[in-house]
Amino acid sequence: MTGDGADGYPDNGPYDRLVATCSVRSVPRPWVDQVKPGGIILTPWDSPWVCYGLLRLTVDDTGVASGPFSPHSAFMLMRNQRTDLRIFRDVVRDDHQPGESTTTLPPWRVAGDGLAAQFALGLQLRDVWWVWHADPDVEGVVSRLWVATTDAASWAAVDWDGKSNDRFTVWQHGPRRLWDEVEAAHVWWLTHDRPGPERFGLTVAATGESAWLDSPDRLVPLPR
Ligand SMILES: C[S@@+](CC[C@H](N)C(=O)[O-])C[C@H]1O[C@@H](n2cnc3c(N)ncnc32)[C@H](O)[C@@H]1O
Repeated sequence: MTGDGADGYPDNGPYDRLVATCSVRSVPRPWVDQVKPGGIILTPWDSPWVCYGLLRLTVDDTGVASGPFSPHSAFMLMRNQRTDLRIFRDVVRDDHQPGESTTTLPPWRVAGDGLAAQFALGLQLRDVWWVWHADPDVEGVVSRLWVATTDAASWAAVDWDGKSNDRFTVWQHGPRRLWDEVEAAHVWWLTHDRPGPERFGLTVAATGESAWLDSPDRLVPLPR
């Protein structure tokens, strides 16, 4: 049997269990529709920010699925949820005139080894990704973190001069002030005691998805 896994397989449903062996950035609606009330959907999780986390949803008798994340999973992303973006091909143009500012947040705090910080950021900024640029051939810049939206409309860059660890130059372009959003998302994570994936969950309803912290009524803030 071959086909698009996002469609599920209605012919033999409804199912007690649905287990995905690829990760998703949002839960395909057919999966929820094809699982019985009380049944479970288990799927690796991904966001453009980081591929991390395992989601275990229970479907209720109104067709709403909800449940917690746990850490540690990282699986290849479902094909039809992938984006094929590159900074210089698709996002940054020569005629862009970014605004300049400074930040005290080291870029490696949000795009480094800390998977809990990255996971929380990915749940808040669902359409934002990043890439490091080492030795970007810019005077005084040792490495630069690029951040961009998946619609390629907004981007930010944060420069490290190789010396200062508490002051970085920021460039921002587009309708969204992306580094400001990243900073706000990071502050939210810090002020909630640096929660890992096990404190987060997701609810999937006919009206859409909402991520939460600790309980389904404590929604994770979205930037807009
Ligand atoms: C990590 S591999 C898992 C392979 C195997 N099922 C297993 O469990 O060992 C993920 C597989 O999902 C497939 N895949 C990704 N997106 C898909 C989609 N939308 N529909 C069907 N298969 C998809 C990929 O081609 C890949 O073979």
